[in-house]
Amino acid sequence: MILDLNSRYGLNPAHSEVVDACKIIQPCTALDMGCSNGRNALYLSQQGFDVTAVDNNPNAIDMLQQIVNQEGLTNLKAQVYDLNTAALPDNYGFIACTVTLMFLNPIRVEAVIADMQEHTLAGGYNLIVCAMDTEAYPCPVNFPFLLTEGQLSEIYQGWELLKYNEDLGTMHNGAQLQFATMLARKPE
Ligand SMILES: C[S@@+](CC[C@H](N)C(=O)[O-])C[C@H]1O[C@@H](n2cnc3c(N)ncnc32)[C@H](O)[C@@H]1O
Repeated sequence: MILDLNSRYGLNPAHSEVVDACKIIQPCTALDMGCSNGRNALYLSQQGFDVTAVDNNPNAIDMLQQIVNQEGLTNLKAQVYDLNTAALPDNYGFIACTVTLMFLNPIRVEAVIADMQEHTLAGGYNLIVCAMDTEAYPCPVNFPFLLTEGQLSEIYQGWELLKYNEDLGTMHNGAQLQFATMLARKPE
């Protein structure tokens, strides 16, 4: 049996929203923001995207780089980068930021998202999944940053929202919280 790269290296499968986004988005330049061990970046590279994967954890980037070297992947660059700087050096057709915004400096998140939007090519896509803190479901986890109701859709006004929900999710310990999930397309 031929194993996909995530299985071969004992990584979780790619986030389901990344897998779903790949059903819509044609391979292009992609940025994985807060890539951790690279589960999404490896999946995207296997789908033919030209991937840059960034994280501020040098150990995570080293581990991913080892896989890149071992597999001879030519379409995946792994780089240490602090997202809080909000100074992306390139433009991308697809930027994915799954369960990462919550860990950023809250006073930088607005600038981080503005930078993401600015560095998305016309007609390109942003995918964001982020925990929320709402009146109905106060977040039980002390993340530095949490979205409020409707905040993300407000920030993406003028983009085409191909997917947007603020659905309830359940954590491993049974605690419930809302997550904003958005796939948006920048106007041409
Ligand atoms: C919960 S993990 C999500 C990993 C990945 N996006 C996924 O869907 O599996 C959050 C990641 O964000 C990274 N991170 C946190 N703060 C960061 C920052 N300021 N700059 C870059 N990455 C950061 C962490 O190191 C961690 O790898």
